[in-house]
Amino acid sequence: MPDRPYVIDEMISAKTIAARVEALAADITAHFADTDKLIVVGLLRGSFVFIADLVRELRLPVEVDFLEASSYGNSTQSSREVRILKDLRGEIEGRDVLVVEDIVDTGFTLSHVMHILQGRKPRRLEICALLDKPARREVPIKATWTGFEIPDEFVVGYGIDFAQRNRNLPYIGKVRFTQNAG
Ligand code: IMP
Repeated sequence: MPDRPYVIDEMISAKTIAARVEALAADITAHFADTDKLIVVGLLRGSFVFIADLVRELRLPVEVDFLEASSYGNSTQSSREVRILKDLRGEIEGRDVLVVEDIVDTGFTLSHVMHILQGRKPRRLEICALLDKPARREVPIKATWTGFEIPDEFVVGYGIDFAQRNRNLPYIGKVRFTQNAG
């Protein structure tokens, strides 16, 4: 599939993203105003650009950590396995934690990660997702804060990849194939 020629049509501009990130950060700052320290957990790799912009807009004491989960699809999506490839460096028990995700799609990855993190007994645990594709949801999970709801399109840019490419685009675009498969 990655070898099929495609073009990328801009869907959300860099300017629109920046304005939304600023607004999200204001809401998150207000929500955690009383925190001694917010542990911001980026889910690798897709959230790396978003988390970098978001933390710079937070007016809170912040610590940044990362977690990498990988999901493997097979023929029956409901039996999809989610594995932790890289765990957090720090403890989160009794702490305020914000999980930062690029896209909530079926919801499998995030619900699995949240289940694991909840088990570590944080004081507060919230989610900020840049994008949400509600039409694709299979597991009922919703981020506390969502940047943009988008239709069921395959998107790239602003940290999000297609077969590891296009993460460096400053905007979010949708992938459009220019030739039919086969
Ligand atoms: P979920 O477990 O189905 O919710 O998968 C979420 C993950 O799938 C995201 O963190 C992305 O890494 C990936 N993903 C979902 N939709 C897209 C897309 O449109 N473009 C690139 N990656 C996507």
